Amino acid sequence: MRTIKIGLLGLGTVGGGVVKLLQEHAAKIEQTTNVHFILKRVAVAHLNKPRKFSLPEETILTDQIDEVLNDPEIQIIVETMGTINRARQAIVQAIYNHKSVITANKDLLAIDGPKLAQLAKSRHVDFLYEASVAGGIPILRVLSSSLVTDQITRVSGIINGTANYILSAMVSDNLSYDKALMNAQQKGYAEANPVNDVKGIDAANKLSILSQFAFGKALDPTNLNVRGIDQLTSAQLASAKQFGYTIKLLAIAKRLSNRLYTSVGPTLVDNNDQLAQVNGVQNAIAIESNALGSSVYTGPGAGAKPTANSILSDLAAAANDILNYDCGNAFNNYHSELTPSTLNNAPQSYLITIYGRSTRPVDSIDWQNETSNHNYWSGLTPVISHKKLNLLLETIGNDFAVSYLPVYGTVKLQAIKEVKQN
Ligand SMILES: NC(=O)c1ccc[n+]([C@@H]2O[C@H](COP(=O)([O-])OP(=O)(O)OC[C@H]3O[C@@H](n4cnc5c(N)ncnc54)[C@H](OP(=O)(O)O)[C@@H]3O)[C@@H](O)[C@H]2O)c1
Repeated sequence: MRTIKIGLLGLGTVGGGVVKLLQEHAAKIEQTTNVHFILKRVAVAHLNKPRKFSLPEETILTDQIDEVLNDPEIQIIVETMGTINRARQAIVQAIYNHKSVITANKDLLAIDGPKLAQLAKSRHVDFLYEASVAGGIPILRVLSSSLVTDQITRVSGIINGTANYILSAMVSDNLSYDKALMNAQQKGYAEANPVNDVKGIDAANKLSILSQFAFGKALDPTNLNVRGIDQLTSAQLASAKQFGYTIKLLAIAKRLSNRLYTSVGPTLVDNNDQLAQVNGVQNAIAIESNALGSSVYTGPGAGAKPTANSILSDLAAAANDILNYDCGNAFNNYHSELTPSTLNNAPQSYLITIYGRSTRPVDSIDWQNETSNHNYWSGLTPVISHKKLNLLLETIGNDFAVSYLPVYGTVKLQAIKEVKQN
């Protein structure tokens, strides 16, 4: 059996989970990888902070990242400290020091993932990041191995557990957005500053990574059309429920010929769709592909052990490459020249809600369903063009506040082609 020494940056939720699982699953890890892992050094920001678990006796705790990165005996660095600039610096230094790197840092990956992967390849070390999307769900390996030969046409994900927890609480417990957010924060599911989660930024970052694996095209998350859940109204939630839908923060990438259409935002999902059943902090990714058809992958999107488990699967893969002198293969080699475009411009069906009015607007729309009370009127449109949507919003908006949400799965392929030609 070979021994491989590893260094860990960060000992918080995820880093702590890595330490615990390495100890709890040591026997199985050794049997299946034929490697005895030694956690040689761990870097933290606050050396004297009390921890709920103990480190192995041989492990050295430090607040000097360089001591971990420059230790010549360490072959694999696991980065679980978060942050962007410091983590980037550390990862680059680790790669230059010929160490394979494993990270869960989706914020950094969304900005610099392809560059770091290229650097790792050129320095013949591994760069793996299974835990960065949907925490415990091994979705990147599914895409890069099990589905590697299939042609994927659409990826739709509930990939932000915080937003899904808040939405689930708003729907099932009739809580306001503020109350649901407060509950999420009290339970540790939302950060004190929840902007990235509730504004859809985190979901957009993860969609960028997913897109690289599913379509060979990493997206620039800052160029995506992203809407958050913080502007949703109780009228929208109640109307969706009445029409047989639930509202989810969906991140979607859909391929049509040489274009990749994306959207991130609250979307009506039919209650019969599997994605509608995914509640609380759970995540799910639905894949449409030519050979397999539809498949859905669900599980915990965060948390100490689920996320650590994804990191340990990367650790096993990196160790295997070290043993076989085969480091430096890209996690995912797929590359395509798709042109990014927004799904929001495609014709689809919408939930329209008008506030301060309880009667149907005068227009030529063949409303599919409608409901009202003394505060609002809501209707479900058939598939309409984006132009028609804008016209409708403009006309109503002259006199009343109005909002709209797309309905999942109503975009027509033929319709998208029309948009492309325009
Ligand atoms: N939490 C999840 O469920 C989850 C799921 C998927 C991905 N991720 C990603 O995993 C990463 C870590 O998340 P987390 O929730 O585990 O964070 P966390 O609980 O805040 O832990 C961060 C850890 O990093 C340490 N640290 C911060 N800055 C440091 C520095 N400059 N030098 C050395 N150590 C430093 C902290 O040290 P102290 O403890 O001494 O303060 C802490 O131990 C993030 O990139 C996150 O996006 C998290």
